[in-house]
Amino acid sequence: MTAPHPPLGQFYGAPHDRERFVKDLFDGSAPWYDWAITFFSFGSGNWYRRQVLARAGLSKGDRILDIATGTGVVAREALAITPSVVGLDPSIGMLVAGREKAPLTNVQGKSELLPFRDASFDLITIGFALRHFADLDGVFRECARVLRPNGKLLILEITAPRSRLARSLLGIYMGGMVPAAAAIITRHARVARMLRYYWATTRDCVRPEVILSAMRSAGFRDERRDVDLAIFSKYSAIIPAMPARPASVSREACRSESAGTRARTAPVPAESD
Ligand SMILES: C[S@@+](CC[C@H](N)C(=O)[O-])C[C@H]1O[C@@H](n2cnc3c(N)ncnc32)[C@H](O)[C@@H]1O
Repeated sequence: MTAPHPPLGQFYGAPHDRERFVKDLFDGSAPWYDWAITFFSFGSGNWYRRQVLARAGLSKGDRILDIATGTGVVAREALAITPSVVGLDPSIGMLVAGREKAPLTNVQGKSELLPFRDASFDLITIGFALRHFADLDGVFRECARVLRPNGKLLILEITAPRSRLARSLLGIYMGGMVPAAAAIITRHARVARMLRYYWATTRDCVRPEVILSAMRSAGFRDERRDVDLAIFSKYSAIIPAMPARPASVSREACRSESAGTRARTAPVPAESD
């Protein structure tokens, strides 16, 4: 199991309270979410998401699943490219806030247990939400399952800089100035709390190598991270058409599989005798 960050006791009492806390956090701040991200990114957030999707090589007709869709900021940009976009999020508040902005097909659910059949999508997007999952390994396994062979996973995330100085400066901005200004402008403490949590989870998130390694363990290949403006990470990986069979699986085990199972796994090695 790979948790994206250690428990953050200053926000919720015990680790098992995290999921409830996150759901309440987004339900409560949903009406201001789009305003908040525009505010702290100086309006570049939507533009950035659009650029990334445009560069992802999407075609009209591709089936996209946007996990942790929230108000649908990524999904709306995807909808401009292909009509087949499904958003998934556990927060009903976020989904309702997004419904007023675009006619999206949304499903209430969690990334740890995707309510879709195997090989249903060509692309999965996860925009600035990986920090909120319980277990990266489980989520990536679910992504691998619902992607069709050669399907792609695309994750956008903010990565805190390694340099102590740059990290402190970003912390002063994202964890201090932005939440304080948001509280004054919106007059809602919950918006400030959401933004403080945004920074705390970014600051304490596991390093990119851990994320890439979890993708590979779940069966993804060609995993890579591209960085824009020093902090914007774009992770991508492909689910191979023929997943590699773990070395420990014996030839006898291969022989005993049904033909149906074989079709979805690696080819059985040829007989040598
Ligand atoms: C920071 S918002 C990101 C919204 C949008 N993707 C974007 O690019 O702005 C994080 C979202 O993750 C959702 N979330 C939290 N835990 C989740 C989980 N276990 N599975 C799926 N989504 C989750 C929250 O409800 C919230 O809507």
